[in-house]
Amino acid sequence: MLPIIRPRRLRKTKWIRDLVAETKLHISDLIYPIFIAQGANIKEPIEKMPGICLYSIDTLLEEVQKSIDLGIPAISLFPQIDQKLKTQDAKYAYASDNLVCKATSAIKHKFSDQIGVICDVALDPYTPHGHDGLLRTDGKDVDNDATLEILAKQALRLAESGADFIAPSDMMDGRVRYIRAILDENKLFEVGIISYAAKYASKLYGPFRHAIKSATNSIDKSSYQMDVRNSQEAMREINLDIDESSDIILIKPAVSSLDIIAKAKENIKNPVFAYQVSGEYAMNYLYAKEYGTSFEDMIIESLTCIKRAGARGIFSYATPIMAKLLNN
Ligand code: PBG
Repeated sequence: MLPIIRPRRLRKTKWIRDLVAETKLHISDLIYPIFIAQGANIKEPIEKMPGICLYSIDTLLEEVQKSIDLGIPAISLFPQIDQKLKTQDAKYAYASDNLVCKATSAIKHKFSDQIGVICDVALDPYTPHGHDGLLRTDGKDVDNDATLEILAKQALRLAESGADFIAPSDMMDGRVRYIRAILDENKLFEVGIISYAAKYASKLYGPFRHAIKSATNSIDKSSYQMDVRNSQEAMREINLDIDESSDIILIKPAVSSLDIIAKAKENIKNPVFAYQVSGEYAMNYLYAKEYGTSFEDMIIESLTCIKRAGARGIFSYATPIMAKLLNN
């Protein structure tokens, strides 16, 4: 009789499981998205995202210091903009002293290159309707090409404020080319682009939209964000962004796109990043609460699977929680 082949030998004890593990999370894999607002001394819990807070610039600087101490490599900033600053032309998006520009320069002034600063480029925090672009005069769709001009100006202001990477999340056609061109014209050659290349029109962005007070989940972004039925289209978007000189490709939501992450990792040379979005954070939190497991275990499991699929960097709201676990 043939002997039974026993893969379980490699699962017998923790030490051997750890030795043979193919995927190991490290704090240097994680990027911490932070919500910011105007004002002072604000550290306000975000209702739909338990454990996550909204910061003013002064308290943000304290949070950044903690992040550096925890070994977090980079943060990304998301603004909650006062309703009165939101306009149809989104002009506050490219005001050189806007909230994100001020926050970025404050961080860079205080901490220099001790931590990376990634700034999102899109108009949803700055428009009253919450779309990522300007609307056409008939109001029926975004005006792609008019939006490109605004995104480029927004990117320039952020880069001038000290952003290390610009992260266009708007999904307009041609934005990477526009942004690279304006950065290069202004000799900002060292500022990189992390483009949300395959960003699906997902229901999982709800808590984020609530947090930045931009729109509700009933808003329809499917004329620019991708259709979840498509995978070839994701590769087309990724290749276009690389042709337009994106440095890093970002895919989201993460766990819903593991196939896309794996395919991108196989087929392109640029680093592939993923974004564990607000709804994924909330799903893990609620599942842990309802089904008697720990939130930390849920987060470790999901982030490990995202890394296993092929993601290098992962944006996750749970980054500080993970940093504490990984540093122990
Ligand atoms: C804005 C933007 C969104 C997210 C990142 N940048 C929301 C959206 O597209 O409506 C979502 C992030 C999250 O849900 O955590 N362009």
